[in-house]
Amino acid sequence: MEPTPNAPADETALNAAFEAKIAAGDSIEPKDWMPERYRKQLTRMMSQHAHSEIVGMLPEGNWITRAPSLRRKMSLIAKVQDEAGHGLYIYCGTETLGVDRFDLYNQLLDGSAKYSSIFNYPTLSWADMGVIGWLVDGAAIVNQTVLAKTSYGPYARAMVRICKEENFHKRQGYEICATLAAGTPAQREMLQDAVNRFWWPALMMFGPSDKDSPNSAELLRWRVKRKTNDELRQRFVNLTVPQAQAIGITLPDPDLRYNEATKNWDFGEIDWAEFFEVIKGNGPCNKERLAARNKAHDDGRWVREAATAYAEKQAKKRQTEAA
Ligand SMILES: [Fe+2]
Ligand SMILES: [Fe+2]
Repeated sequence: MEPTPNAPADETALNAAFEAKIAAGDSIEPKDWMPERYRKQLTRMMSQHAHSEIVGMLPEGNWITRAPSLRRKMSLIAKVQDEAGHGLYIYCGTETLGVDRFDLYNQLLDGSAKYSSIFNYPTLSWADMGVIGWLVDGAAIVNQTVLAKTSYGPYARAMVRICKEENFHKRQGYEICATLAAGTPAQREMLQDAVNRFWWPALMMFGPSDKDSPNSAELLRWRVKRKTNDELRQRFVNLTVPQAQAIGITLPDPDLRYNEATKNWDFGEIDWAEFFEVIKGNGPCNKERLAARNKAHDDGRWVREAATAYAEKQAKKRQTEAA
């Protein structure tokens, strides 16, 4: 009899088959055998990603009622709604690894799970909506474009679909920025202020520097990650500098200069102390974000209860009809 793919029968042979698949560039699918550590790392990465999509709705949701025109309001609502969809889609993906999304969701609500540090910064002006779309979704695209080639099939396929929407998010953000940049002196000032506040936190979105990223080597070997944090960060800087120049906005880094030899834009030192403080829960809005998610969860209890009761009633009805 053939052993089932997840049988512990001969782990050495299973592991060799898994490594061979990785080496050949094939994708790992939910029913394939995989090392426990691979499953754990994927669950961690994907759940952090899903949480980030959901928490990421909060800073922008803050401006929906204050959007300056109907057109801006419509596109902002659509964008925030897209992020909810991304979250649900990725939670669904984590379930293919054998976890329950409610367990993951509870980890977010009790503060034990991480999400992207960027969403712990406040949104103080309308220009922040432009800058978040341009820089934050822009950074997400750089990350997610390579994740679309990650070795775990369901995650890779989710990224292909999500990246298409992220491109719209980035464009709507950059359009807001370009409009403000061509506006009154007060509008330009508001935009510059937003860029000053979000530039460095956007660079931190790529995670710690490679030398301080203990998981990176293993994740690269398994092709979960395809590029290092620093490589992706550099790619983002190279893409973004010309976009800032095109609308006449200054990026707040005196060390930013083009390096002819490497063909990269060199940039200054990131404030890692700030990054680790935000990760630890001490950013400007960590408590507010978790309180908002917990309140939404509590307020939604009656909806979940009603939906469950309705589903049970329908199931009973189908049973009676079938009998
Ligand atoms: Fe998203
Ligand atoms: Fe987005």
